[in-house]
Amino acid sequence: MYMKIGIGNDHSALELKEEIISFLREKGHEVTDYGTNSSESCDYPVYGEKVARAVAGGEVEQGILICGTGLGISLAANKVKGIRAAVCSEPFTAKMARAHNNCNILAFGARVVGSELAKMIVGTWLNTEFEGGRHQRRVDMIMEIEEKD
Ligand code: RB5
Repeated sequence: MYMKIGIGNDHSALELKEEIISFLREKGHEVTDYGTNSSESCDYPVYGEKVARAVAGGEVEQGILICGTGLGISLAANKVKGIRAAVCSEPFTAKMARAHNNCNILAFGARVVGSELAKMIVGTWLNTEFEGGRHQRRVDMIMEIEEKD
């Protein structure tokens, strides 16, 4: 199934982002690039928020975020209502993040994973569906926390 995917990154992940975009387009997905497209040092929250808002608003179906570790950019994305962003450094976590947690943003670190591993993580993520059932209740519980503030 082809998907609309939004992608964002900071300066540390420019090259890896380009590789991931090519990988996704080769597979037929529609990719929107939210930047950065400069190698100058920048602030990852800007791009985490941009992609998160695109996912939350329905502009794209899934998001991919890459910074040095995947941490800062995912933390920023998780502040946007409706977002469940997960840092995944290997395919098993990526599979579970979709199957059990119904995450809508995948994050990883350009200083952590190589490009071949990153493609495996992305491929696994996109090929895994949410299982629903008992997991739906738990995901709903996570999202209810947003309403408590
Ligand atoms: C930038 O140097 C680095 O802090 C950033 O890419 C990321 O790893 C933050 O979580």
